[in-house]
Amino acid sequence: MSDLNNGQKELKFNRKTVRDIDINGKRVLLRVDYNVPTDNNGAISDDSRIRASVPTIQYLLDRKAKVILCSHFGRPKGKVVESMRLVRVGQRLSELLKKPVTTLKDCVGPEIESVVFSMQAGEVVLLENLRFHPEEEANDPVFARSLAKLGEVYVDDAFGASHRAHASITGVASYLPAVAGFLMEKELNFMGNLLVNPAHPFVALMGGAKVSDKIGVIQNIVDKIEALLIGGGMAANFLKAQGIDVGASALEEDKLDYTREMIKKGQEKGVRFILPVDVVAAEKIGAGVASKVVGVKNIPAGWVIADIGPETVKLFVKEIQAAKTIFWNGPMGVFEIEAFSNGTRNVAQAMADSHGTTVVGGGSTTESVEDMKLSTWMTHVSTGGGASLELLEGLQLPGIAVLLPK
Ligand code: 3PG
Repeated sequence: MSDLNNGQKELKFNRKTVRDIDINGKRVLLRVDYNVPTDNNGAISDDSRIRASVPTIQYLLDRKAKVILCSHFGRPKGKVVESMRLVRVGQRLSELLKKPVTTLKDCVGPEIESVVFSMQAGEVVLLENLRFHPEEEANDPVFARSLAKLGEVYVDDAFGASHRAHASITGVASYLPAVAGFLMEKELNFMGNLLVNPAHPFVALMGGAKVSDKIGVIQNIVDKIEALLIGGGMAANFLKAQGIDVGASALEEDKLDYTREMIKKGQEKGVRFILPVDVVAAEKIGAGVASKVVGVKNIPAGWVIADIGPETVKLFVKEIQAAKTIFWNGPMGVFEIEAFSNGTRNVAQAMADSHGTTVVGGGSTTESVEDMKLSTWMTHVSTGGGASLELLEGLQLPGIAVLLPK
């Protein structure tokens, strides 16, 4: 649904997809976002981005295409970083596809070309981390051309990276016919529909550490929603803006005026801004530290907000239950620490139980929902963090803009 152009919404996602182009037997360069979270040992802790790429790959394989996958992984800053190789991702993909996936040692150059040009129909290779080359992020045209040379058609299924104007995302589209994969199409339909045609009441649930990350989104959706529920670290900014002492909670002081103005504007439009009425306050953020539930006006000096409290959970759950559309981005507390995970768990469960359309927007919110095994109960769990926010901000995503129009 929506390619958003400087705030001007197209009402329909009107780019070509893999269905609209002949890929039979062709070499297809498929950009995916395999920037997956890993644990301390480098094992993949959430494979949802890999799983989400399977429908497009399978579609291509069914049509005897030769699939050349490319992705970034982490931020190696233009150098080879051993821990950021894609080999484990290739192994996981091979398990999911139930067929061999060869992970190559690089992503461009004569050796890579000789492997790719001798691929058989229905084979899959995964190129090495694109960001080992500084030219990827610099959108270097020579690098883009070397990548493009590997394919005959370019398919972009990397919604999570579509806000980056990098060589493998925008550069290659100068050399190859460029179309969207199924994941890209699905993401744009769900996320775009939130802006264009949401069922009401529409409630947005925002959390996470920083208010500055969410300002653009709040601004762009405020005249489409009935209520904005605010939790997570960013709630401290909203509470402080209302004159409440938030102890030693991290604040973005330079955003206080702005926060105040946003509440005022929202109220003028009839939007209810629902802030926490109680919180779990902690001596500091960490496992096993002293903590207690307090009303927001009783946060002990020097303590910090670590989660929303039980009364706030009740308020938020009631709003979620009454809504027909709910968009959620950002955890309600420091979810990784058990003692501060209650708010996030409860709102996630309420979303899963909702009869409305529930959309979860990327990053750590997706991880928390995956962790709770609730993903399948949501209408849509986005694979994009920054990309989903930029889309909801109404910004043009460079990765979408280069795809062929229908
Ligand atoms: C993400 O995880 O949000 C995407 O893969 C983009 O990664 P980046 O922020 O390192 O560009």
